[in-house]
Amino acid sequence: MKATAKTKALCALFAGVMLSATSVTYMQTVKAEEGLPSGISKVMVKPATDDGPLDEIFSGWHFRSKETKNLQKDDFENPGYLWVEQGEELWSAVDGAKDKSCKSCHDDPAKSMKGVGANMPKWDAKLKRPLTLEQRINTCRTKGMEAKEWKWESSQMLSMTAFIRNLSRGMPMNVQADGPMKPWVEKGKNIYYTRVGQLNMSCSNCHEDNYGKYIRADHLSQGQSNGFPTYRLKWQKLGSLHRRFKGCMKNIRSTPYKVGSDEFVALEIYLAQRGKGLQIETPAVRN
Ligand code: HEC
Ligand code: HEC
Repeated sequence: MKATAKTKALCALFAGVMLSATSVTYMQTVKAEEGLPSGISKVMVKPATDDGPLDEIFSGWHFRSKETKNLQKDDFENPGYLWVEQGEELWSAVDGAKDKSCKSCHDDPAKSMKGVGANMPKWDAKLKRPLTLEQRINTCRTKGMEAKEWKWESSQMLSMTAFIRNLSRGMPMNVQADGPMKPWVEKGKNIYYTRVGQLNMSCSNCHEDNYGKYIRADHLSQGQSNGFPTYRLKWQKLGSLHRRFKGCMKNIRSTPYKVGSDEFVALEIYLAQRGKGLQIETPAVRN
């Protein structure tokens, strides 16, 4: 396909912005550590295996401004906690034809859900496929409660996923990547490295080749998933990981996959594998 004038201009924009910073190595651009997010003991870890592409794995927290970090250093300042609290209320709310709540089957979430958010997405032996946290919750709603599914980006789903992931805060991400999950990791990896869109870019072009540099005012991170669902100042609300994927795909002028699609589930699994060992920060605050 021939590049249009517009595409060329956009490419030049990105290339120019990136080149302007290529001589600066990552470590030089990192500001002195500004404390740590609430409930977290490290924001950088060594990769779990040596066959990964990264020498050091950084949480997105590392790249944010002092102001944004401050919102995540104190749970009372963190606007994401509105969703966590709503999720806690929903836990015991009866819904559906069976008159059940999550509590009816799972009782005390601090016990039954501890660590669950750090291992998602997880293989489901009955359905013979992996389920993200959202998909697992909807399976419980339709099968266990005979209640309606929650929409992916609904306030109920965001609240429940934030609540459950928050119960694993500080725990290392530890997705299963072997056995039946292997083809999904491969599929996600393939998507991660494939150039798409008018700008003909892959996830890796920004989050692996250029993290630590700036695109306009945006300080590029490694695009890790440990803080999701995340409160974004730009959105003025909490948002899911798949929403973020869509945003990144639109920015390179490509047609995004749908939230909950197998492509995004695979990408989520691959990202969890790339970020293995990073501590769950949900609800993280990002700009
Ligand atoms: C009728 C009983 C029932 C109800 C009600 C129910 N669940 Fe479940 N839930 C299950 C069963 C059974 C499993 C599967 C356990 C397994 O496979 O290890 C499960 C698994 C889960 C898991 C994954 C746990 C893990 O260890 O990976 C999550 C998360 C979950 N449920 C959330 C919810 C939420 C949130 C609600 C309320 C919206 C809910 N469930 C309502 C029965 C129920
Ligand atoms: C043109 C560059 C670019 C491309 C290509 C790109 N992103 Fe991003 N992405 C960004 C920017 C800018 C941000 C916001 C700042 C940051 O966290 O890096 C971001 C943020 C993210 C975040 C949030 C990180 C956090 O800590 O909250 C994730 C996850 C992410 N991207 C994943 C992806 C995936 C997956 C792809 C490929 C489908 C992709 N990105 C492609 C530029 C890009």
